[in-house]
Amino acid sequence: MEVVKTVQEMVSASRRWASDDVGFVPTMGYLHEGHLSLMRRARKENSRLVASIFVNPAQFGPQEDLERYPRNLSRDLQLLENEGVDHVFVPPADQIYPPGFVTYVEPTGPLATVCEGAHRPGHFRGVATVVLKLFELVRPQRAYFGQKDAQQVAVITRMVADLNLPVQLIIMPTVRETDGLAMSSRNSYLDPPTRATATVLYRALQAGRQVFDAHLQGDPQLVEQAMIDVIDAEPGIALDYAQVRDPGSFMPLATLQAPALLVIAAHIGQVRLIDNFLLRTDGSWDTGIAVPER
Ligand code: PAJ
Repeated sequence: MEVVKTVQEMVSASRRWASDDVGFVPTMGYLHEGHLSLMRRARKENSRLVASIFVNPAQFGPQEDLERYPRNLSRDLQLLENEGVDHVFVPPADQIYPPGFVTYVEPTGPLATVCEGAHRPGHFRGVATVVLKLFELVRPQRAYFGQKDAQQVAVITRMVADLNLPVQLIIMPTVRETDGLAMSSRNSYLDPPTRATATVLYRALQAGRQVFDAHLQGDPQLVEQAMIDVIDAEPGIALDYAQVRDPGSFMPLATLQAPALLVIAAHIGQVRLIDNFLLRTDGSWDTGIAVPER
């Protein structure tokens, strides 16, 4: 596995491969089985596999956890090597954002300003900007993202269409711990009591899903209330939102029908977690998958 440390090396490498089929998995590191599920799928579908590890300052708000975001580069490199990654791009921040940097990709409208966009102003601008830059540096044919970050998926899908980017997006289900907690680098912030509480997001989504299935064509408020009730019954959790949204536009739904996304975000102590269930157009649910046995 080649560790690519500069923008210049990344550009000269990707221009050499022009004819290859290249798969790309962007990450912020501190890798877990969710990230690795993307690597495995990408490894099967591409003759060349590129991953990136870059804790992107532009997607963190001033009060957020950029400084304390977990990092362990040597462990990450070992995990990527084990998955058969060919090249890992690990750029320094001042090469992605050189001195004087002013040019951003700005997603607009409800998609970027509701839910995560409302609670994390500027977050999707940072995500879209870095993902476009990474696509341009790596020039992949296929790029792999997790359904865990449902609104990120919608924003990037929109950006690829809006900017005519020649890349195919492949979206993979959320990988969960055996008790339902969605895997996340931020789970490392949880101590034993908050870790136990954290399953409440998954339990709220399950309750929402049951009400959804029982009230097809009914009022989305019923599902939202079912999720809120589960959250309210649990001490030590502050809800940001628990809503039913269209998975592409993130607009509210008029009635309970497919496709739909149940989205939830909450603070448990100092830790902010997000999760979702997707009701696909064909009426089947994507609630994620349990982590393979370790
Ligand atoms: P990061 O949080 O490191 O996630 C990298 C990729 O892994 C994303 O596509 C994310 O959705 C996916 N992922 C995270 N947890 C997952 C899980 N439990 N199951 C399946 N997939 C999971 O998302 C980012 O980084 C950044 O915003 C990035 C796209 C790299 C831009 O900076």
